Amino acid sequence: MAAHNHLVPITLLLGLFFFLASPPALACDAGDRAALLKIQAGFQNPGKFTSWNKSTNCCTWYAVKCNSHDDGGRVISLYYWGDGAASGGLSGRLPDELGDLPFLFDLTLANHTNVYGVLPLTLTRLTRLSSLYLPLNSLSGALPSFLTQIRSLTVIDLSYNKFSGLIPPEFSNFPALDILFLQANNLEGEIPTTIGNLSKSLLPLDLSLSGNMLSGNIPKELLAANWRTLDLSYNNLTGNATPLFGANKAITYMDLSFNKLEFDMTGIEFPVKLIILTLENNMITGSIPAQINQLSDLLIFNVSSNQLCGIIPAGPVMDRFDNTHFFPSKCLCRSKVSCV
Ligand SMILES: *[C@@H]1O[C@H](CO)[C@@H](O)[C@H](O)[C@H]1NC(C)=O
Ligand SMILES: *[C@@H]1O[C@H](CO)[C@@H](O)[C@H](O)[C@H]1NC(C)=O
Ligand SMILES: *[C@@H]1O[C@H](CO)[C@@H](O)[C@H](O)[C@H]1NC(C)=O
Ligand SMILES: *[C@@H]1O[C@H](CO)[C@@H](O)[C@H](O)[C@H]1NC(C)=O
Ligand SMILES: *[C@@H]1O[C@H](CO)[C@@H](O)[C@H](O)[C@H]1NC(C)=O
Repeated sequence: MAAHNHLVPITLLLGLFFFLASPPALACDAGDRAALLKIQAGFQNPGKFTSWNKSTNCCTWYAVKCNSHDDGGRVISLYYWGDGAASGGLSGRLPDELGDLPFLFDLTLANHTNVYGVLPLTLTRLTRLSSLYLPLNSLSGALPSFLTQIRSLTVIDLSYNKFSGLIPPEFSNFPALDILFLQANNLEGEIPTTIGNLSKSLLPLDLSLSGNMLSGNIPKELLAANWRTLDLSYNNLTGNATPLFGANKAITYMDLSFNKLEFDMTGIEFPVKLIILTLENNMITGSIPAQINQLSDLLIFNVSSNQLCGIIPAGPVMDRFDNTHFFPSKCLCRSKVSCV
């Protein structure tokens, strides 16, 4: 009887002991923890990762997020926005051990201008990765087609880096992709015809190739595909872009400015959901169709520095924009009176 009486307080004490000794979340997974420490050691300067305290649960470390206790308490997100070249950011190459966080869903390392070098092949081990978000670094080399091995990717943002060379034709084979941002790199050559395959999924996606050195005609597969936003500005693209237009297209944001596009605007129908339409600095001819006054959401618009002629169709949409949105032009005018 006496022994039995003691059991209850001992059990309570043991429970209390384990409650106090265990951290609030499940202790960090040993493999994830080892990988994080190698990632910390792998950068020349680990920036704010320096604050990681080995005697605490890695799920509480700066930039690290784990899933719930019930789901295993694994590292699902590594999210670190730096402040450019300012001291305190990351520097060095991306460590191979980034591939050793098998539950990673979101990898965001952005605005660390001293992070350079190529993307490590080990990223292909991240079979759950949804968001590869690495803008505003100094990453370089060719865009690696091995990224297509990560079938779970929905967002790829490699913008504002130093990637060079051609866009690999395989770079369209991402079954779940929703956003592809490659702007402000040194990409050159023609856009691969396979790029149209990107928008095969049900929802239209966002594509930006702005601010590279891309040349040649925009492939017809790209022109025919279904985009939500499309930014091809500041390249050397040539040819006819009229298949992009069409009143029923879903596109809300179209920026083709600062290229060498040559087509006649007279017969096109503008997608009626457009909010942003910027076509300045091309060689677009013809006149502005009156249908443009149906674009009730249009907020940002520019057709200056083209070869447009004729009367700007007066109406609720065109009347919002002053001359700085149209001129210089070859021979556009506001009214019949100003035309003569
Ligand atoms: C690391 O965490 C332990 C336990 O919370 C604490 O005692 C120690 O002071 C911390 N070390 C640093 C460098 O912050
Ligand atoms: C990147 O860091 C620089 C320097 O601190 C800062 O001025 C800039 O706003 C940052 N850019 C972004 C997009 O966060
Ligand atoms: C693009 O799609 C076409 C037709 O759906 C298919 O035959 C082709 O293999 C795809 N190309 C790539 C690179 O995915
Ligand atoms: C466009 O082509 C011209 C002439 O080939 C070249 O000088 C210029 O740098 C190119 N611009 C871009 C943005 O690629
Ligand atoms: C339209 O584009 C031209 C460049 O051709 C630029 O100078 C002008 O400021 C732009 N207009 C507006 C309203 O942004």
